[in-house]
Amino acid sequence: MTESLKRVFATKKAQGAPAFVTFVTAGYPSPTDTVPLMFAMAQGGADIIELGVPFSDPIADGPAIQDSNNVALQHDVSYAQVLGMLKDARNKGLQTPVLLMGYYNPLLSYGEEKAVQDAREAGANGFIMVDLPPEEAIRFRSICAKEGISYVPLVAPSTSLQRIKFLASIADSFIYVVSKMGTTGSSAEVAMNVELPQLLSRIRAYTPVPLAVGFGVATRAHFESVAAAGSDGVVVGSRIVSLIKGSKSPKDALDTVRAFCAELTQHAGAMPTPPHLANGAGVQVVQPPPALPIPPAPAPDSLKVTEAGHLPGRFGAFGGQYVPEALVDALAELEQAHLTALADPEFWKEFESFYGYINRPSRLYHAERLSKHAGGANIWFKREDLNHTGSHKINNAIGQILLARRLGKKRIIAETGAGQHGVATATACARFGLECVVYMGAEDVRRQALNVFRMRMLGAKVIPVNSGSKTLKDAINEAMRDWVTNLSTTHYLVGSAIGPHPFPTIVRDFQRVIGREIKQQMAEIKGKLPDVVVACVGGGSNAIGTFYDFIQEPGVRLFGVEAGGDGVDTQRHSATLALGTPGVLHGVRTYLLQSPTGQIIETHSISAGLDYPGVGPEHAWLKDSGRAQYIVATDEEALRGFRMCTQLEGIIPALESAHAIWGAVQIAKTLPKEQDVVLCLSGRGDKDVEQISEILPGKWADKLDWHIEM
Ligand SMILES: Cc1ncc(COP(=O)(O)O)c(C=O)c1O
Repeated sequence: MTESLKRVFATKKAQGAPAFVTFVTAGYPSPTDTVPLMFAMAQGGADIIELGVPFSDPIADGPAIQDSNNVALQHDVSYAQVLGMLKDARNKGLQTPVLLMGYYNPLLSYGEEKAVQDAREAGANGFIMVDLPPEEAIRFRSICAKEGISYVPLVAPSTSLQRIKFLASIADSFIYVVSKMGTTGSSAEVAMNVELPQLLSRIRAYTPVPLAVGFGVATRAHFESVAAAGSDGVVVGSRIVSLIKGSKSPKDALDTVRAFCAELTQHAGAMPTPPHLANGAGVQVVQPPPALPIPPAPAPDSLKVTEAGHLPGRFGAFGGQYVPEALVDALAELEQAHLTALADPEFWKEFESFYGYINRPSRLYHAERLSKHAGGANIWFKREDLNHTGSHKINNAIGQILLARRLGKKRIIAETGAGQHGVATATACARFGLECVVYMGAEDVRRQALNVFRMRMLGAKVIPVNSGSKTLKDAINEAMRDWVTNLSTTHYLVGSAIGPHPFPTIVRDFQRVIGREIKQQMAEIKGKLPDVVVACVGGGSNAIGTFYDFIQEPGVRLFGVEAGGDGVDTQRHSATLALGTPGVLHGVRTYLLQSPTGQIIETHSISAGLDYPGVGPEHAWLKDSGRAQYIVATDEEALRGFRMCTQLEGIIPALESAHAIWGAVQIAKTLPKEQDVVLCLSGRGDKDVEQISEILPGKWADKLDWHIEM
């Protein structure tokens, strides 16, 4: 199987032409179109076909391929069905080598070994995985090698020499060279990267393996310029997908794709008709030259991954860096900057010099009436709601902007759900005079109109994201796409303890001030540690900031409260730790709410800030190790917590924090009066008042028996 790929490159080399590699998403525009489209490509001159395995969150892909993934998923195309299509094509006589291309999570949920074995049985020649980090790549590649199929690594313009060496060492048929920074996508008007020849010769210095260039090839002129740059292969994906989208009928799509491929390759005519269609006659058999002399693959144990980072990149089995190749070295640079900052007292002095601006330390407040109402332990609020901009998010925004300034980045991008992180980022950017772009799901833009207006007043550009479920996860996808395109100028200011390493660590380090202050304040007020700390969990930044300094204090119990939405017995909730399963999303291995086939599912919560299908990897580890417990508050319970806090304490909390209030009251009830429960009041509720005024007159007024005259 790997041999067929090698032979393609050897044959093309002998012919003096680059191999032509085409792409189509399996199941697009419908499952019945895929096999005929593969034949149309082969007939137009495709030497290798990449068959895209649909995934709900394709962070490395531009609009055309994103859209094709969504359409395929609307047809419920699973990995098993993709293999069925390939098997069908092989049964019908397709000879062209086929690579399966996609993201890790659908394969992970199918089972890696089985995924590779079944792929080989279906007739696949190899895999291109967009988001496998080195350790997993080595393991995955050894599974492929056992089955005799290929693992094709990717190299990007930003890939360091050291990583090029590593990636070259694991290539067994060819290397996919990403021609430009950014996502897949093509335009006839945009020229190919002029630095391509240098990139190719940089890689060639380390390996005799053929190089195929993709990303941005749309025309014959592009094809020629890539060939002239010295590439052994040319990959065309988005352009083909766009042609399919623009065609009038399935038949028109086949004709258009066949003609386009023939035009690109200047193929004299259609390929020989597949044997089954030619009744076994008229097929010209060309004796192929032997496969290229690619050195045999080294034994997996002898492979070295890139130099290990200095910060721990994993929390037990969770964490890591599951990102497109273009981001790997940017993450290494960020890790280095954070590591240097951690060890530099001047950095922390600078961070603390902004405490006056943030309004730190935040107060520890004894919620006497709420405690009395609960009838058990004392309940204390850590008043992050009184921070500048109204939530804990400002701690992280200021910290990361100071890091970004160290890296010389002038443009800041962020994602936001509730809008609080967007507001904190826009505020910090205004304070430091930096350009600010905030991605926000279109649905959240609607739900949090006031925060959108606030961000725009502060000078930020707010970009509504209309893909996928139009919520936080889609905003993160879009922010990652922006980052991968604009790495040299831009810092991605991730708003929660999520994403690829080192983000979960960076965000935690800027939020741990919450727990550190609680420890000190409790000692001053009561001369002891708290007995319990409680925080709501969306991505998990306020919770990990609250927990971190207590992890090594076994006497302090840690409770996270997730959003239970309509209830954990329904499909509408965001209780990721309670009900999720491990997988990979947004560059990190953690608990996820996903379908049995590894697609990320839509979540629901009354609070936009908790409406996320993943969770920070450190929480996944704290859960599995048993050090922290995670409980759930439904929308109704959060509203009850909201009302209690508002009416008993005269403090209107954020709906996110209201989940923690409900949880803290339930816990306090069970504890003796001398114990102390501290909850992180992560934000204030001004942003939610309009939403409450809209929903209360309906079913909630009766359910909660809370009738307010307008
Ligand atoms: C007030 C408030 N609390 C909590 C959260 C949840 O985020 P995290 O889990 O990262 O603290 C948000 C998110 O927007 C928020 O605005």
